Amino acid sequence: MGNLRSLNVLLLAIPLAFCSAPAGPWDAFNFAPASKTVWPTAVFHTEGSVTGADDLPGNKGAATLVGNGAWLALDFGLEVGGLISLNFDTVTPASSVNLAFTESSVFVRPDASDDGTQCTESMKYDGVFNIPAPLPSGPWTLPRASMRGGFRFLTIVSASDDPVTISNVSCSITFMPHVENLRDYAGYFYTNDSLSADADLLTKIWYAGAYTVQTNTVPGDSGRMWPLVPSPGWSTTGNLGVDGPIIVDGAKRDRTVWPGDMGIATPTQFVSTNDVIATRNALDVLFVDQEPNTGELYFVGPPIKGRGSDTYHAWTLVGARNYFMYTGDREWLDNLWTNYTKAVTFLTNKVDDSGLINITGLGDWARLGGGGHNAAGNAILYKVLTDAADLASHTDRTDEAAQYLAKAAALKEVYNTAFWDDAQGMYRDNPDTTLAAQDANSFAVLYNLTNTPDQATRVSEGLTKNWNDIGAVAPELPNTISPFASGFEIQAHFEAGQGERALDLIRREWGYMLSTNLSVQSTLIEGFTADGGIGYRSDTGYAGDLAYTSHAHGWSTGPTSALTFYLLGISLTAPQGAQWRFAPHTSGLPAAEGGFETPLGRFDVKWALAQDGSFTAELATPEGTEGVVDLANVVQTGTGPTRVLVDGQKVADGVGSPVSVAGGSRKVQIRSSTCAKKRK
Ligand SMILES: *[C@@H]1O[C@H](CO)[C@@H](O)[C@H](O)[C@H]1NC(C)=O
Ligand SMILES: *[C@@H]1O[C@H](CO)[C@@H](O)[C@H](O)[C@H]1NC(C)=O
Ligand SMILES: *[C@@H]1O[C@H](CO)[C@@H](O)[C@H](O)[C@H]1NC(C)=O
Ligand SMILES: *[C@@H]1O[C@H](CO)[C@@H](O)[C@H](O)[C@H]1NC(C)=O
Ligand SMILES: *[C@@H]1O[C@H](CO)[C@@H](O)[C@H](O)[C@H]1NC(C)=O
Ligand SMILES: *[C@@H]1O[C@H](CO)[C@@H](O)[C@H](O)[C@H]1NC(C)=O
Repeated sequence: MGNLRSLNVLLLAIPLAFCSAPAGPWDAFNFAPASKTVWPTAVFHTEGSVTGADDLPGNKGAATLVGNGAWLALDFGLEVGGLISLNFDTVTPASSVNLAFTESSVFVRPDASDDGTQCTESMKYDGVFNIPAPLPSGPWTLPRASMRGGFRFLTIVSASDDPVTISNVSCSITFMPHVENLRDYAGYFYTNDSLSADADLLTKIWYAGAYTVQTNTVPGDSGRMWPLVPSPGWSTTGNLGVDGPIIVDGAKRDRTVWPGDMGIATPTQFVSTNDVIATRNALDVLFVDQEPNTGELYFVGPPIKGRGSDTYHAWTLVGARNYFMYTGDREWLDNLWTNYTKAVTFLTNKVDDSGLINITGLGDWARLGGGGHNAAGNAILYKVLTDAADLASHTDRTDEAAQYLAKAAALKEVYNTAFWDDAQGMYRDNPDTTLAAQDANSFAVLYNLTNTPDQATRVSEGLTKNWNDIGAVAPELPNTISPFASGFEIQAHFEAGQGERALDLIRREWGYMLSTNLSVQSTLIEGFTADGGIGYRSDTGYAGDLAYTSHAHGWSTGPTSALTFYLLGISLTAPQGAQWRFAPHTSGLPAAEGGFETPLGRFDVKWALAQDGSFTAELATPEGTEGVVDLANVVQTGTGPTRVLVDGQKVADGVGSPVSVAGGSRKVQIRSSTCAKKRK
């Protein structure tokens, strides 16, 4: 009885805790499948004697493969991951079948999968999954240990001379194990991008990011096995942490917790599914193994477990602050506070006489040249210190907040002396180089290490020198376009008031990723070469990275949160959004709509900018919250109107100064000044 009663409470609580996004035209761009069982949508290729292949998509009938080596490749139409089931309709005692999986169509082949396990010269490490003779007659399901976490194409190969007839080939999706309806998002986003050839491009990119992070949210016992066994082959049985579901770096690989990646993936998760429990589980596993003396955290979770990255250590701390802002989970933070502050001290202990941190734990996102007095590492430390101050101030730890702020201020001063290169108008990567890194310069603007708006303007302009037609080539990782680093760059452009530039980079880089037929055209690739090839990092000695590259990497989803926080303009300034900010960056677009939820309720926004420069925004935020409306980045054509109204009442004469408003339903407008008209 007691159990039943608590079940009732739980059922009642669910609708209150989770408010789905409203339905609308944006739903057409949600990549998540409607069912957790999916069937292929097309035949990609057949070879040898194969009949009936076209009946497998949509489960219309059976296909027969005759002879050793005959094969067919099925296309699921988008990235999926999970357990294959199929029916063996007709087999002989000798019939045998191999299965091969790949994300990119480039690696569709009968003798190997793409590589999730190890990058090798041969690019055939994972091999095939053999279903040996005698095959069962009737239904068969891939064993759980050999589950394939990320793929779009499934190749089925006859591995004996005898014919085999199969039907009903499907995939049972294993990501988001705790959610039945994958399409039921808490957040949404929509804009009509009239400046793109494809007016839906930005909306698609937002949803591609959201779906990518869903494919990275996995059961706690489904990590990539480490050490790598079997060899060759793969095993999806790694224990990822204290609990699942848990967020990992990629669907195919590494399928391991990486906190740097979460620096982008967690905000994506918050604005789309609000499924941040997966982030909490990932943070917990990093903190629970904190080194008791030094305070150092693992920079990668189990089963890999490694120490030796100061920046990824720092990203776990950034993750803790993100999680607390989105949830206000005070019990969790209080329980963690000793470990958290000890981990901050681990970093500040590395600040030497120069006032800068000497980065000695060199592991990072694959960039080169990150050690010593490095600009990116120091910028992340600044972010950690300001985050720590913010967390302390929201939890009545006033003295600690002041101490962290003082440390941050001192670091900011030294940072500008050590790294600002006035001739370039950029921050140099180390005191003894002129290389201006994409990540460091993006962090410097985003985290407000700049002293003046002019510095931010110059850095934003300077970053465009790295661009080509399909993205920003990172100087700190030659010949490479890193959507991870670019995810911070787009935020930096917004922060610098350059929304149109941010959208320009999103359209180039994410537009390319989503459309190139090298990709899965649904989830987002980990990185690519400057000319658009998929040999991510192949210039830096990672042989075999072609097939190893992940095509569903949460760190590549920067636009999802950036479009919500900056373009739409709604973001949190206190835990759960008890305080919030509405600061839209119109960025050349006529309208945008979207929202998200927190434990306090929904935050929804719809704005439109008319050609005469008048602007209207409908804001719905929870009653009892407090907001600031800042319209400085509503870019009007010509000398647009400048009278700001809230619910019809004039609150300001110009768009320059932010105004405070109470939560609830508000109408914010910019209208012509009637007084000005009268004077004319
Ligand atoms: C097809 O496969 C699905 C998923 O395994 C299963 O639920 C269904 O019963 C199968 N249908 C037939 C006709 O075998
Ligand atoms: C998007 O904008 C274009 C150009 O302004 C317009 O022609 C089109 O009808 C709009 N589409 C939608 C769905 O509103
Ligand atoms: C803090 O770190 C210690 C090990 O140093 C660990 O035993 C403990 O569980 C950690 N606490 C939390 C809340 O993670
Ligand atoms: C950073 O620390 C390492 C190890 O102690 C040392 O070798 C290196 O010279 C230091 N770098 C700088 C810039 O001081
Ligand atoms: C950024 O730094 C400037 C000057 O250093 C300061 O005036 C400003 O308040 C800071 N902005 C934010 C959002 O903290
Ligand atoms: C991908 O696109 C290129 C260029 O448009 C084309 O040559 C190639 O055949 C396409 N590949 C596939 C697998 O569709």
